[in-house]
Amino acid sequence: MNVLHIDCSPRPESHSRYLSVAIVQKLLEVSPAASITRRDLGADPLPHATADYATTLSSLATLAAPVKGSLDHAEALIHEVEAADVIVMGTPMHNLTVPSVLKAWIDQVLRAGRTFKSTPAGKVGMLRDRPVFIGIASGGVFSGERANQPDFLTPYLSVVLGSIGLKTLQFLFVQATAFLDGDQATLARGKRLRRST
Ligand SMILES: Cc1cc2nc3c(=O)[nH]c(=O)nc-3n(C[C@H](O)[C@H](O)[C@H](O)COP(=O)(O)O)c2cc1C
Repeated sequence: MNVLHIDCSPRPESHSRYLSVAIVQKLLEVSPAASITRRDLGADPLPHATADYATTLSSLATLAAPVKGSLDHAEALIHEVEAADVIVMGTPMHNLTVPSVLKAWIDQVLRAGRTFKSTPAGKVGMLRDRPVFIGIASGGVFSGERANQPDFLTPYLSVVLGSIGLKTLQFLFVQATAFLDGDQATLARGKRLRRST
């Protein structure tokens, strides 16, 4: 089993990293020989879409004759997804939705004719479905009875990942982290977990 482990927090010690590591550890308990591919978008952010990349994506004609080299980076990221049997993602909520580093990854991975087909009825995924576990950390509360803000993160990710064929999503939350972040013991526990993987 190959696990693609993606983290998005800019913080080296973080709740969403703690969650994603805990999920990976559970998978390793089930499948100890699993290989892990790391994509740390928080520590190594991707560049935003370049002029060449945007020009290539601007029409079906330019997609058929891409600017030389403009898709190389995106291809590498798509190959990571294709090679994965399971994807584990840890992400913070930033201003009610995904952080910009995850949006930059999405902008490279979604491409007409490569990861989805554009049809009159909408996008149809071209990738094989596989389980995607998404650990989300938020300073406030966005789900359940005590929610005090809208959630543009989980519906957005569901539509975006679903549009390329990834429909088996499992969301796990740690909310109200603003009340935990004075507690160094919580973050230290995550640090110990991460060191052991
Ligand atoms: C730029 C920025 C925007 C944020 N926006 C929100 C938000 O809209 N809602 C919320 O509940 N928390 C928000 N937070 C708080 C983070 O979600 C919270 O600190 C979370 O624990 C971050 O994840 P991490 O611990 O994995 O870094 C924001 C934090 C930052 C840095």
